[in-house]
Amino acid sequence: MVIAGPASRDLAKSISKNLNVKFIESELKVFADGESKIRIPSVDKKHCIIVQSLYPPIDRHIIQLLMIIHKCRGDNASKITVIIPYMAYARQDKMFLEGEIISILVLAELIENCGTTEIITVDIHNEHSLSYFSITIKNISAIPILAEYLKNNKTIDIEKSIIVSPDEGGTKRAKKIAELLKLQILCLKKTRDRKTGLVSVEENLGLVIEGMDAILIDDMISTGGSIVKACEVLKKHKIRNIIVLCTHAVLLDNAFEKIMNAGVQEIISTNSIPNICAKVDLAPILSNVVVNTN
Ligand code: R5P
Repeated sequence: MVIAGPASRDLAKSISKNLNVKFIESELKVFADGESKIRIPSVDKKHCIIVQSLYPPIDRHIIQLLMIIHKCRGDNASKITVIIPYMAYARQDKMFLEGEIISILVLAELIENCGTTEIITVDIHNEHSLSYFSITIKNISAIPILAEYLKNNKTIDIEKSIIVSPDEGGTKRAKKIAELLKLQILCLKKTRDRKTGLVSVEENLGLVIEGMDAILIDDMISTGGSIVKACEVLKKHKIRNIIVLCTHAVLLDNAFEKIMNAGVQEIISTNSIPNICAKVDLAPILSNVVVNTN
């Protein structure tokens, strides 16, 4: 059976339809102090597939997920597969400044210790995070379906486009989509102040991009700062149109408006987070992973 966490009802429903298995919706009440109460019927020794994405309010969505896993374990579920389309805390995957806690390690331990058998996630920020999990965790890529969407929805002239990564950390991702779309890539040089969080981008590109269209690709958009900075530099180099692709559109602090005001034609993301940019459905690829591993 597929159990929908409160954060991922629609996606869970699509997955249950694809798998042709029972769909269970969790009944949620949030109290005045912010605590969640969740009610789900007995899962009675079944294989439970829980779907809960960890977008904001992140900590609330985490505790809800832990509660559901705990309940399945209490009901003696035969197996607990947890689908976490957007894995929170994956950006704190090392101690960048002395004394910082590796948040993804804490989250990994919590999810495992509640009784999870295996995890499926999508485009985790850095694959290094996977090493903190001691149970099976499958990290699937949304790049092929993002590329497919682009081909089928002619927002821009793909042949006259260049793939742009807003930072060097995204090189592998940019290369992957560039291969699928047969385009050249440009990786911007972004630096982020570890204390203030402010980003700056090197303006010297060493490449002529005038008159081309840019397909900016990132794993996630949070405040939009990285994309806006990238757009400023691309515009200085007389790029024509810009569209943005990402797996996780978290969109905080008016990120959507900021990005559109920076001259972007369209933001396309998966439905790991349900919002205005969620145009690419993860249900088919997530269902396939479940089928192929069970
Ligand atoms: C950073 O390495 C990530 O890949 C994203 O570029 C970043 O997290 C986006 O954050 P923001 O939208 O706040 O710039």
